[in-house]
Amino acid sequence: MCGIIGYIGYRDVVPVLIQGLEQLEYRGYDSAGIACLDSRKGNLFLAKEKGKLAALKEKIGDFNIDSHIGVGHTRWATHGEPSRENAHPHTDFSGQIALVHNGIVENYATLKKTLQKKKVRFTSQTDTEVGVQVIGRFYKKKTSLFQAVKQAIPQLRGFFAFVLFSKDDPETIIAYKRSNPLVIGLGQGENFVASDVTALLSYTRRVIYLEDEDIAVLTRNKVTVYSLKRHSWVSRPVTTVNWNVAQAQKQGFPHFMLKEMYEQPEVLRNILSKRIDRQGEVYFDTITKAFRKRLKKIERVFMISCGTAYHAGLVGGTAIQQYARVPYQAQVSSEFRYTNPMVGPEDLVVLVTQSGETADTLAALREAKSKGALVLAIVNVVGSTIAREADSVIYTHAGPEIGVASTKAYVAQLATLLLLAFYMGRLRRKLSRDAHRTLIREFKKIPDQAAKILKEHKRFESCAKKHYTRRNFLFLGRGYNFPTALEGALKLKEISYAHAHGYAAGEMKHGPIALIDHEQPVICIAPDSLTYEKMISNIQEICARDGIVIAIGTEGRKDLEKMADDFFCIPKTSEVFSPILTVIPLQFFSYQMAVLNGRDVDQPRNLAKSVTVE
Ligand code: M6R
Repeated sequence: MCGIIGYIGYRDVVPVLIQGLEQLEYRGYDSAGIACLDSRKGNLFLAKEKGKLAALKEKIGDFNIDSHIGVGHTRWATHGEPSRENAHPHTDFSGQIALVHNGIVENYATLKKTLQKKKVRFTSQTDTEVGVQVIGRFYKKKTSLFQAVKQAIPQLRGFFAFVLFSKDDPETIIAYKRSNPLVIGLGQGENFVASDVTALLSYTRRVIYLEDEDIAVLTRNKVTVYSLKRHSWVSRPVTTVNWNVAQAQKQGFPHFMLKEMYEQPEVLRNILSKRIDRQGEVYFDTITKAFRKRLKKIERVFMISCGTAYHAGLVGGTAIQQYARVPYQAQVSSEFRYTNPMVGPEDLVVLVTQSGETADTLAALREAKSKGALVLAIVNVVGSTIAREADSVIYTHAGPEIGVASTKAYVAQLATLLLLAFYMGRLRRKLSRDAHRTLIREFKKIPDQAAKILKEHKRFESCAKKHYTRRNFLFLGRGYNFPTALEGALKLKEISYAHAHGYAAGEMKHGPIALIDHEQPVICIAPDSLTYEKMISNIQEICARDGIVIAIGTEGRKDLEKMADDFFCIPKTSEVFSPILTVIPLQFFSYQMAVLNGRDVDQPRNLAKSVTVE
């Protein structure tokens, strides 16, 4: 979490930093700040404010500063409350170095004590300030800033990325990465560094993804990278990203989340056209022969991820089990890594992640790899750490997702995982050519069917209007739509702050049924499926207890429509594809609930898009 950016070049640095921070704000919005070097006065200009970037922008106003080097930060608080004092950038005791930080310096308390004994004064409660002070101690001894960083880093434990510069050296920005992401943007007579590419897209699409333990030295005309791991200068590949600025802007929508929901049919179309060849077979350009050979023989699948991606993993695991006949286990990354998991070379570990930077998922990946498992990442952000460290990666091609609540990235994960299940089914000879062909034919209808659901938005709105003051919601589903129940509940709570619980419908009578009365809304996800009749029985049980039923079912299901207080239908499709469609009304419902409650839809409280701390 936290978004960091640095710039050196010929442009006025303040607008570059502010614009970059606008793109990075989804990573945290507890405070924002910038530091730059005033070329005329040679002073360090520092501005920071508690709260969102808007507060900082207001403070800076039209302030005219002639500067071409600087760093910026948008914070998700870990150490120290959200306040002006704790906002980044932080400076060292000499006031020479300004530093922004993403991540955690774990041994900050011990280091702070040692420094305090040496009479170093601190002005914040952050671990970041400890980092810059340690670097400052080395810098004092008249080494270059690069040398100071190189010497200081081994003293700092934890996972973090730094971007910094010194008043003494107006021609250099230093960036360091350990686990948390940093990407360099290459320009002509200017260079950039940021937590992710969206901050760079207005200026360049030529980027370098830094590796762990890289120290990058940026000047206007050059970027050089030193690897602390290899103890030498290294060359890192330059990649051209295919995202564009427009994709990372609202384009007239009031919120990114709404825009991203409307992009879903196109995202699905794009995935299907990329992943299905002329013969109708699924193909993944990144899967090598050697990988395929191992994939053919794996004995178990572990689906490991967090939040929404975990729900996608549940759907994907169910499909892999059904079509490729491999047993699966799904677990959240934070649990997997601490349970000494029994995985080995005969297992496939699939990590699903939008950002490709989630700390727990990355740790799970490393754990799985260390035990010899075959590791496949399903990732949206190209070049992210998880994408690079996995044995193979399949990109979900959803484009940049800015809203904190994941929508289009989720359906992209679902579509990709279903294709993977069919691919594995064919590879392992568990899925016949004919059955595969039928599935693909049906899959190709899904983008248009999703578009049809999106046209119903007025109806979702009026349903939300009836319920937006309620504080408790229950979501029920079965089979492929049990994860949809979990996802619907997560979406609702994260952006509307209403309490919502997702449950397997069959479990209702083992506890949650006690909640049902005339004031309890229950969202029942009941498309045509193997367990449709069981779902209907569950809904009857809710009706018998006077509960409020909001149902999502397949068009034409009059029985369900009659029982429900509100009924939303999806077009006819097989159960396996239904989660892609049933989630759309739930996204809309949550969105409207959030809007009606006056919530900050794209930046819900306490959250950050990319969770890069444990
Ligand atoms: O980037 P990732 O997919 O690894 O992120 C995982 C979760 O943090 C993420 O899905 C989170 O739950 C979303 N905010 C849900 O909308």
